[in-house]
Formats: sequence, C-alpha cells, structure tokens
Amino acid sequence: MPMQKRFVCPREQVPKNGMIECETEGGLMLLVANAGDDYFAYQAMCPHQDTPLCEGLYDGAVLTCHQHLWQWDIRTGAAMGLAEEALESFPVRVEGDSIYVVAQSALIAAELFIGISEATLTAITALAQKEERDAGSICYDFGAPADDFFVLESGRVEFLIGRDERLSPAGFMLRKGEVFGWAALLENQPQRIARATCLEQSQLWRINGKQTLDLLEADSASGYLVMRRLSSLIARYLTSSGSK
Ligand code: FES
Repeated sequence: MPMQKRFVCPREQVPKNGMIECETEGGLMLLVANAGDDYFAYQAMCPHQDTPLCEGLYDGAVLTCHQHLWQWDIRTGAAMGLAEEALESFPVRVEGDSIYVVAQSALIAAELFIGISEATLTAITALAQKEERDAGSICYDFGAPADDFFVLESGRVEFLIGRDERLSPAGFMLRKGEVFGWAALLENQPQRIARATCLEQSQLWRINGKQTLDLLEADSASGYLVMRRLSSLIARYLTSSGSK
C-alpha cells in the first residue's frame, strides 16, 4: 500500500514558534506547529473532548489545551502533566516552501491486523474499498445487516447504541486505524446494534466480513491473532460503553 503525501500549507503560514489549524488536501484537519527549524503535525481536536487544539496555548515547546489543561510535548506528542493520552502525530515533510504530511494507510497500522502474515494482509487490503464521507453521514444504522466492517483512515466517527428504544452515546470516538462494525466478523450477529455517524469529513475502508473470515480460515496463524485482538477489542468496548 503506497504512502500518501498530502499538501498541508505553505511554510510561511505557520508563525515562528506558533501553531495553526489546517485542512489538508483530501480534507484532513490538522494542528501544525513550528518549533525552531522544525514543523510538527497532530490531530486537530483535543483527545479529551471536542475542543480545537489551536485554541489552546503554545510556548514553542509545550502545547496546552485551555479547557482542562492537558499538555503535550510538541516534538513527540507525548502526554505531559495532566494529559492521559498522547496526540496522534502525522509525519511531516518540508519541500521548498511547502509543508506536507506523509501517512501510511490505516489498514497497515490497524491494531487488528498487526503481526499477521504479509500475504493475508495483502489479500485483506485487496478487499478493502475506500469511502469518502461527509460530516453527518451515517455509516450504518441500528438493525441494518452487519455484512462489512470498517477501518477509519481519517476523520472521526461517533456511536449511538440502542437501549429501550432510545439511542444514547456509546461514550467513545474512534481514531485512525481503529476498526468498527466488527459484528461482521462474528457468527450469529447479523444486525447492527449501534448507529455509526461521521462527525467530520472522514475516509473509511469498507471490508467484507465473510470474505475476510474465509481468508483468515485459510491462514489460521493470522486468524488466531485477529480473533484474539477482536476479543480484546470487544472487551474494551464493553467496559468503555457508556462509562466515559
Ligand atoms: Fe482538552 Fe479537556 S478538552 S483537556
């Protein structure tokens, strides 16, 4: 799978030891910061709650979200002080006066597929179909057939779960490389139990569950790894659901 290179902005748009929010070619929202001679790019929204990081404070070394004072090292994105999560970083390449980010496809970075054989990963990526979705677009709805699962390439997806004919937030949002709609990989789980909605323009990989299971059956070592990861993903979902 090729590396993607996306134009972010001209260098002069980023203030010296300052930061701006940018929308890249392809609609990815990023926070871009300068520190001395270097540039860094991170997710645009705070990983804590829905707050743009560009509204925070930045002293040329440490970024602070103004809402609850989570902090990060701008050179690494590592959590500092009160922060409980690191920032998702995007490798930057500066060419002449332009800033680009280079990113590997989320399919390769997807937690579910780490460690599986190259041949099976290639076969799964060949099944994947890329979808571009606008903010507000519903990926699937409560009660719909669970045929496909998804890997989030960019953007944000929120879940509502149905309980007693009411829908309530599942309490988490996804990040790049995370898998959702995994009911398609389970037996006897023909219907969706949640509604998945894109909160901003998002790119998804749609992969057929049945065809993936056939590939994993033919490569049982990889299949075992994926099923083990899938069960911890479900356990995480059950413990975080509604509690965050
Ligand atoms: Fe950023 Fe809480 S929203 S620290």
